[in-house]
Amino acid sequence: MLTSAVLEDLRYRLPPAPPAGSGLAWLRSRVPRFCDGPEHTRRRAGVERLLESLTVIPSSSVDPTVVLLGALGLPAEISDDVDLVAAAYQPHTPQSADADAALERLVAACGGRGDATAARMCLLVQAHAAVRALVAQRRSGATGPPVPVTRRIAPDGTVVEVDLADAPFGRGPHACPGRALAEAWAAVLR
Ligand code: HEM
Repeated sequence: MLTSAVLEDLRYRLPPAPPAGSGLAWLRSRVPRFCDGPEHTRRRAGVERLLESLTVIPSSSVDPTVVLLGALGLPAEISDDVDLVAAAYQPHTPQSADADAALERLVAACGGRGDATAARMCLLVQAHAAVRALVAQRRSGATGPPVPVTRRIAPDGTVVEVDLADAPFGRGPHACPGRALAEAWAAVLR
């Protein structure tokens, strides 16, 4: 396992997500999480603009994904589809036709395939998985980062794991843009 310093070493890349027309592969091909360089800068700016435009009020009694859906003007009923898509978001996790079908329903709910929809889905899926992990960690009494490990492709092409123990929100260009919101959530979930 490598230390979080590699997250600032631009020779370590994100897993490639080639262009795709549908399913999880489409989402990965359009979000900042799975690209580098100028395209990452462009996609990330879109996600940050969207996040800044939202009013999200963390609550201990309402599911965080339902709160975020409300802030995005989307119905709470689609939170199960966010859950299915989040479970298959990372390319190393199990992929399924069910997750791809959930993704297509979310695309429709978010207004059709395009940059704006990819940004909305990126926020929903990233926040869902990470805040779930935070809640599970609180319940179990475990310490350490809620998301303990991330991955990069090393210069020799191998996949390496990166320890987030000293960087729970990451480091470098891909560091979590939702950190302030995540910390506000952590405070109300205490
Ligand atoms: C406890 C809660 C959270 C934790 C521990 C967490 C952790 C992280 C980490 C470690 C990364 C970097 C991954 C890497 O470089 O490989 C990341 C990226 C990201 N997070 Fe979070 N996160 C949390 C909550 C949120 C929330 C609430 C949002 C949005 C509302 C969010 C949106 C994102 C996005 C969009 C990225 C991708 C950024 C990029 O690739 O440029 N996260 N998060």
